[in-house]
Amino acid sequence: MNEKITTGTIQRKTSAFGKDVMYGLSQHPKSLSSKYFYDAEGDKIFQQIMNMPEYYLTNCEYEILSQQRKDICDAIHALDEPLNLIEFGAGDGYKTKLLLKYLLDNKAEFNYYPVDISNHILDELQSKLHDEMPDLDVKPVNLEYFEALTTLSKIKNRRNVVLFLGANIGNFRYKEAENFIGRIHSSLNEGDLLLMGVDLRKNPNIIRLAYDDPHGITASFNLNLLKRMNRELGADFKTDSFSHYAFYEPVDGEMLSYLVSKKDQVVHFDALEWSVEFNKDEFIHTEVSKKYSISELEMMAESQHFKVMKHFFDGKQYFVDTLWKLK
Ligand code: AVJ
Repeated sequence: MNEKITTGTIQRKTSAFGKDVMYGLSQHPKSLSSKYFYDAEGDKIFQQIMNMPEYYLTNCEYEILSQQRKDICDAIHALDEPLNLIEFGAGDGYKTKLLLKYLLDNKAEFNYYPVDISNHILDELQSKLHDEMPDLDVKPVNLEYFEALTTLSKIKNRRNVVLFLGANIGNFRYKEAENFIGRIHSSLNEGDLLLMGVDLRKNPNIIRLAYDDPHGITASFNLNLLKRMNRELGADFKTDSFSHYAFYEPVDGEMLSYLVSKKDQVVHFDALEWSVEFNKDEFIHTEVSKKYSISELEMMAESQHFKVMKHFFDGKQYFVDTLWKLK
């Protein structure tokens, strides 16, 4: 029950961060990947984001999974055949627990495979789940998403259900998301399922407020990227010399976040033996959170050879957990 599927080392990841930083900050405009928000500090701030009223996403998905878990489990055939439940980016499992608990209570036959490249996150999740649901068979997979899928879809002759909750797909632009979904398709088998949590298009003011909150929590989440470079790459960013800027672009449905330099400044990276200049008002693009319409989602499913089985909405129709099947 404790065996783990593992690859790579911490070392490799650290140097990848350095390379990505040098590359991204040498671009015009400068950019950094939002995947680097999530170090231990960033994880903590993200928890605070999920607890603030402006960040409606968490409550909406929680409502869907708690109120409709029977319908969801019926739709994935969870009680009539054995399943592999494979989760991308499980985080603290707060929402997934709702499904897992229902499946256990109803004696479903399934294995739960949380997939994450962070061993630390997997360990925490496993011990948490073990405390709350000692009967649950958790098999953490410490691999990249697609390595995990190819490995798992060969192991057992069972229907695979991939969970990609929490609107994480939003961190890709439309074309990138399409490519990501296409790769899920090529790593799975016919009849396998994908349950994906997606934030929907809605009043632009509601969206913007979720990413530019009056408490300054999202600002500190964004600025933590600079602190992380200070910690891990020996950089000398002064975080009060940058400000958080977030705006929603309703044509493409993209919520965009930036860090803006308040003055001309030079930042040095000890560990990289490298420096970079910022002009006053120059910005680093740090995140895309794409919002979808139902027709965009259906178009994407179609183009990547999935059949849309069902949309599970919250009461306000702010969010959807959409269920697709591999054709
Ligand atoms: C974890 C990617 C779903 O885009 O809504 C929250 C991250 N960024 N506030 C999102 C985030 C700023 C979040 N995801």
